[in-house]
Amino acid sequence: MSDDMANCGYKLASVLLTRGEIEDRIGKIASAIADEYRGETVVFVCILKGASVFMADLIRGLGASVDARIDFMAVSSYGNSDSTSGVVKILKDMDSSAEGKNIVIVEDIMDTGLTLNYLQGVIRGRSPKSLKTVVLLEKPDRRQIDCQLDHVGFKIPDKFVVGCGLDYAGMWRHLPDIWCLQEA
Ligand code: IMP
Repeated sequence: MSDDMANCGYKLASVLLTRGEIEDRIGKIASAIADEYRGETVVFVCILKGASVFMADLIRGLGASVDARIDFMAVSSYGNSDSTSGVVKILKDMDSSAEGKNIVIVEDIMDTGLTLNYLQGVIRGRSPKSLKTVVLLEKPDRRQIDCQLDHVGFKIPDKFVVGCGLDYAGMWRHLPDIWCLQEA
């Protein structure tokens, strides 16, 4: 174990979702999205860094019937804390224009909903042809704001999770399964 892992105050507790379960579910979401956009061009906007692993799995499941393009945004999140600040700031914007395009926001998790609500507002303001949002995880008990989710991988309890792109203080993103943390 690294010094950072040893000193961060948390450790891995138990597996909440296995890689197999995650793969199956993402495959189903990718098929559904491919059906929705058959023959169309779609820009999938990955919200860095947490959604990077989900995004890679999702777009590989789409197949050739969709003209899928990718773009990236980065927003400020929790830093090293495990509770939301409510402050959202764009650190990196899309490279391409959203105007007149089918846009799908790809996010790792909806917790309070503040981040997605903000991002949806920003992209909607750019006059896309359509806007949908897909999240790998949703914590319904934590939601503070109503925002539209078109596809949800899994609804999970109010626990802090890591793996499959999700981190705590930059750690554990690389784990194939999704784990709950517990105090060390
Ligand atoms: P929201 O604005 O409260 O919905 O927070 C969304 C962001 O918080 C996500 O993109 C994640 O970066 C982070 N987040 C919320 N819950 C978790 C968690 O359980 N594990 C890792 N990151 C989380």
